Amino acid sequence: MPAIGIDDLSFATGTYRIELAAIAERLGVDPAKFEHGLGQVEMSVLAEDEDIVTLAAAAALPIVERAGREGIRTILFATETGIDQSKSAGVYLHRLLGLGDHVRAVELKQACYSGTAALQFAAALVARDPAERVLVVTSDVARYELGTPAEPTQGAGAAAFLVTVEPALVELEPASGVFTRDVMDFWRPNHRHTAIVDGKSSISAYIDAVAGAFEDYRARGGAAFDEIDRFCYHQPFTRMAAKAHRQLAERLSSSRDGAALDAQIDDTMGYNRRIGNSYTASVYFALAALLEAEEDLTGRRVAIASYGSGSVAEFLSGVVVPGYRERSRVEAHERLLAARTLLDDEAYLALQRSVQRDDPSNYETQRQTSGPFRFAGVRDDKRIYEPTA
Ligand code: COA
Repeated sequence: MPAIGIDDLSFATGTYRIELAAIAERLGVDPAKFEHGLGQVEMSVLAEDEDIVTLAAAAALPIVERAGREGIRTILFATETGIDQSKSAGVYLHRLLGLGDHVRAVELKQACYSGTAALQFAAALVARDPAERVLVVTSDVARYELGTPAEPTQGAGAAAFLVTVEPALVELEPASGVFTRDVMDFWRPNHRHTAIVDGKSSISAYIDAVAGAFEDYRARGGAAFDEIDRFCYHQPFTRMAAKAHRQLAERLSSSRDGAALDAQIDDTMGYNRRIGNSYTASVYFALAALLEAEEDLTGRRVAIASYGSGSVAEFLSGVVVPGYRERSRVEAHERLLAARTLLDDEAYLALQRSVQRDDPSNYETQRQTSGPFRFAGVRDDKRIYEPTA
């Protein structure tokens, strides 16, 4: 069986950003709470004419431009922020990317987890036909009620990756562990724009589920905890990675502690600290940050610990491929983050409220996005997407 894994990884985020200090001031909270207690300094905010489809297309376009469209027969679109109850966001994406007719496009949902299900489904398709290259896109906008403790853990972004044989970035190892338990820690009923969350119970449900998935990973021949070099956790806020890693180490009686544990996760947080929560994309922003950090990880074992409230977790590992840095998109990614326009609190609040439309069946959006595609609005209940150029 040839090696299968991630061949390319690219991301996109909102046109705007807000510093969490501005939100702290309005809420009358010590800004150190957000920076140190949550591990967040700022978050991305979408323009009126951006949504999960425009973000996904902006993330995936550099991949198809570099690798070509040949052999891409499947788009797996993972999201919690679905825009339609029936039609897959992957179909809109398919057109924006200019892919041919002979492609299947579907959407997958399980809170923040479904990108990792997509990775496994993609690997299975590639195992069946090594000529296939599967495009996985994770794209989300995290929205909670304003003025609640969850407000500073919003954010938005999309991470796209290509799953192929003989991948250039990370080769997946065969073992993976899974865990499902019906918990009401976070959910979003169909009539709501914002998620309902029981924050404290979501933290403990997350840790239990990841520990359960790790146990299953081990039972299926996965590496021992101390044989894994770096850990990419789902990061609803980056301090969550530290909490999860320390608790897992303690439960497994790891020989590592303190600084040695921090060193295994520190490089995974660079992007999420600045983007905020991006639900399905978050763990792949962690992987991107790790692979684009200074340290050379050639030949090292990296774990992905994926969690979606509700709840499902999966733990899997892979090995970093020699030459992976030649594929790095670090400059483009840094440029994208630096180019975001800083909003003040008032402008951010106005944008947050703009998702509530008087007539959701018909409206136009203002031209704001700096990305390659825009969401122009809704006409007779049909969403309109177009290139910006
Ligand atoms: N300086 C530094 N740290 C401070 C601080 C200060 N002035 N004030 C508080 N903190 C720390 C707290 O000690 C706590 O850290 P700890 O957990 O290590 O003890 C942290 O900041 C968070 O504060 P806390 O008051 O415990 O929580 P909160 O009510 O602000 O809620 C969440 C935090 C994450 C639960 C909330 O933002 C949320 O519900 N988010 C959405 C759901 C989510 O992200 N779930 C995660 C699993 S998917």
